[in-house]
Amino acid sequence: MPSMTASSLVLLYAAVFASASYVPQEVLSASPSQDSSAVLRRVAVNSTRHERSTRVILDAAQAADVDIWHVAHDYIDLYMPSESRGASAFSSHELEYTDHLLPSSLLHPHKHPFSLWNLSSLSNTTFHEVYHPLGDIETFASQLLELYPRNVRVVPIGHSAENREMFALEIAKDFGSIRKKTGFVITGAQHAREWIATSTAMFIAHALLADQSESYSMAPLLNSYVFYLVLVPNPDGYAYTWETDRLWYKNRQIIGPNERCIGLDMNRNWVRTTATILLSTPTPPQGHKWKPDAQFPALKKNKGPVDPCSYWYPGHRAFESPEVNNIANYITTLPNLRAYIDLRSYGQMISAPFSHSCKKVPKDAEDQIEAALGAAAAIKAAHGVAFTAGSLCQLTYRAGGNVVDYMYAKAGIKYSFAVHLRDTGTYGFLLPAEWIRPVGEETANMIKSLASFIVKQKF
Ligand SMILES: *[C@@H]1O[C@H](CO)[C@@H](O)[C@H](O)[C@H]1NC(C)=O
Ligand SMILES: *[C@@H]1O[C@H](CO)[C@@H](O)[C@H](O)[C@H]1NC(C)=O
Ligand SMILES: *[C@@H]1O[C@H](CO)[C@@H](O)[C@H](O)[C@H]1NC(C)=O
Repeated sequence: MPSMTASSLVLLYAAVFASASYVPQEVLSASPSQDSSAVLRRVAVNSTRHERSTRVILDAAQAADVDIWHVAHDYIDLYMPSESRGASAFSSHELEYTDHLLPSSLLHPHKHPFSLWNLSSLSNTTFHEVYHPLGDIETFASQLLELYPRNVRVVPIGHSAENREMFALEIAKDFGSIRKKTGFVITGAQHAREWIATSTAMFIAHALLADQSESYSMAPLLNSYVFYLVLVPNPDGYAYTWETDRLWYKNRQIIGPNERCIGLDMNRNWVRTTATILLSTPTPPQGHKWKPDAQFPALKKNKGPVDPCSYWYPGHRAFESPEVNNIANYITTLPNLRAYIDLRSYGQMISAPFSHSCKKVPKDAEDQIEAALGAAAAIKAAHGVAFTAGSLCQLTYRAGGNVVDYMYAKAGIKYSFAVHLRDTGTYGFLLPAEWIRPVGEETANMIKSLASFIVKQKF
């Protein structure tokens, strides 16, 4: 499968990393042990040549079908299972990297026995101390509905590829007056393995309903806002992470006629806003057409059409994912939307549009960045954790079909952000469950900050 040889990679990297001196952002400590089945390899990127360096590594990773966990300004995290074919391609001495061993215990989620939680208090419940399989999340929604019948609606929004029913949780002070309120949309893990995103969405839903006397209650926001939460945008993928592969991230639809490959990357499947979005060519061609091949020139050059089995497969066309289509259709029915947050992990970043271009600047960029900086300060005020703020393209890399571009440019939601939650790569997607509550608390602070900023702006 790898279409670049290790030696051609070495040559590429020799050019890019000629004098790289790399200090890891965080000490990635783990001593080798029998327990370790996988490696997180943090490859340095020359940040003064950010886009070019990033592109070279991403192209190579795609060509070798290596799972890319995170792209930051000065490093890229690559996940390498012990049996990985791509690993050797990234083991060059020319390449600056550090390895972090991931204990296999983290890859096998603990399944607690089913129980009903007491959700009458946000601070006292044990619900936010563990990750939850899909069935628990549905129970959580119906328990909230039972506890707060005047403030909660559970709205079916369509079916997933595997025919699971998707739902949105609507939270309001009272549903008679929602047209007078401002709409705030939050989505959980589009990428199935980003469990903390869905857990945080649940914490936020609960905090919106919790009595004002409780710390981190968000109830006062309901005086001005109605919240629309899609806790599990990718239910098939999420179920699969519990049942089969903790690190699965696409959806689970059957791709192509021969059923050889499953799933597309939902967060590349939203309609694009302006230019065709490219990961790898220097000047993006103009146009609105969906051209998946154009996104993967490295693959196209080397092996013809984009491989539908690849990690990053964006689909044949926008909205091919029924889940993406359901959420987009639902959004169009909602009144007065002014804020959208795509909860994600990991990297500790608050990112404004655009994803598809680093050069194009939204006309609302100034307000968006001001809001994001305030939001980052609000996060830090909770538990001292630092988040960076910027545009999604600049903080990560250029990529098309992203939900944030869609929500901003197509759905017209001025304050649209992607929020990559904790951490910065020690555990990555395998964030320990005891962090769910502090992450929920700092995210509650962030949303309060955004909400009050937006209200003051009068749109
Ligand atoms: C990064 O690239 C710039 C420009 O090519 C170069 O001057 C600089 O030395 C490089 N930095 C490192 C750490 O390699
Ligand atoms: C839930 O906890 C509250 C106190 O926080 C208590 O009053 C209530 O009875 C509990 N409900 C159940 C069903 O145990
Ligand atoms: C949470 O538990 C504490 C200690 O048991 C109790 O004093 C408090 O009233 C509880 N809070 C709520 C909102 O139930």
